[in-house]
Amino acid sequence: MKNRLMVALDVPTAKDALMLRDQLGTHVGWLKVGLRLFVAEGPRLIRQLSEQHPIFLDLKFHDIPNTVAQAVASAGDHGVNMINVHAAGGPEMLKAAAKAATAFPSMQLIAVTVLTSDPMPKEEAQGLVLERAMMAHDAGLKGIVCSVHEVEAIKAICGQDFITVTPGIRWGDQELQDQKRVATPEYAIKQKADYLVVGRPILAAANPVHAADEAVAMMHKASR
Ligand code: C5P
Repeated sequence: MKNRLMVALDVPTAKDALMLRDQLGTHVGWLKVGLRLFVAEGPRLIRQLSEQHPIFLDLKFHDIPNTVAQAVASAGDHGVNMINVHAAGGPEMLKAAAKAATAFPSMQLIAVTVLTSDPMPKEEAQGLVLERAMMAHDAGLKGIVCSVHEVEAIKAICGQDFITVTPGIRWGDQELQDQKRVATPEYAIKQKADYLVVGRPILAAANPVHAADEAVAMMHKASR
């Protein structure tokens, strides 16, 4: 189960990131590097982090097809295991990205559908998520980022192998913060989400290792 848990390293410096990596060690499967850390520290840190964990480089590319394809290839050169683009970029952009990703068989290219922080009504989000998931699937991407609430419908249409990566994970009395379409680790596993992305509930916990273990324990419970 821990291999399905991705920790969002939304911290300001390489020092913080490496400290967290050493602390969390084998308690989590993946490390996710997003905008804040990548803009601050760049590819050198990616190489250091990838010595011990698979890396999801969460930069959500959204630009013209040629520019996105070039950025996907640059991500592939860093040896990351997962990279994403915004499905809102449209089918031509998605196809160009998918073509660029074929040069890197160990890197999974996925698309963000609708951000889990988007305040649009749940039903409206669901329709748009499905539409964008199908677009990504048809363009040859390996999966999408969505909320737990959309996983079942996406798998029914795009197939069980189409990867679903789900942020917006909260449990107990944790604050939702800016997230809107949230779910617990238990529910995420029951809905067959492939990967759970957890940031602040682990980073801001008094004991991050304990918080990660708690999430994994809930995931295990749901799988029984
Ligand atoms: O702190 P929290 O658990 O809300 O962090 C969620 C992480 O997932 C953040 O790093 C955020 O950038 C990322 N993410 C997201 N929604 C998406 C895609 C990525 O929240 N649709």
